[in-house]
Amino acid sequence: MLVDDALRALPLLERHDGPLIDVGSGGGSPGIPLAAALPDREVTLLDAERRKCDFLGCWAPPNARVVWGRAEEQPLEAWGVALAKALARPPTAAEWCLPLVRTGGAAILWLGECAELDPLAAVSEQLGGGEPEMHDGLVVLPKVAATPPGFPRRTGLAKKRPLA
Ligand SMILES: C[S@@+](CC[C@H](N)C(=O)[O-])C[C@H]1O[C@@H](n2cnc3c(N)ncnc32)[C@H](O)[C@@H]1O
Repeated sequence: MLVDDALRALPLLERHDGPLIDVGSGGGSPGIPLAAALPDREVTLLDAERRKCDFLGCWAPPNARVVWGRAEEQPLEAWGVALAKALARPPTAAEWCLPLVRTGGAAILWLGECAELDPLAAVSEQLGGGEPEMHDGLVVLPKVAATPPGFPRRTGLAKKRPLA
């Protein structure tokens, strides 16, 4: 079930080249099933909690590397796609993910069919992103321009004062 849920993103990933990052990977979903299904693609499994990273290190396939750290402190525009499932409220998750993605890439959020797209559109526009697209409960935020100056904001602000 968890595996099927992760693999729903496969058709969307075909549209964007480059390495993947699973932001707030926790127990490894969606990053580990996707890394196993795409052995030629580099995958970063990022989590802010060391204990989660220790767990991820036991299960990561050879094309996946585990990084212990916060999304706001990672290199900018270094990945083709950022993935996030159950990371934070959608505007916060979008703000953490979009700066990590290069122009032409995308952030993909596991939010469900009922997700509100208007607040996400407002956040996306401020971060060099385009209009959100819903695909089977996955929301795709295309990265259409470089991350504007001032982002990412100081650690903690995206959660404390969301952009929308
Ligand atoms: C609810 S868990 C979801 C885990 C997994 N994606 C899933 O769906 O089962 C959220 C994870 O995000 C991590 N996290 C929260 N804020 C983060 C941040 N700013 N940067 C990186 N990881 C973060 C937490 O440590 C936690 O493991």
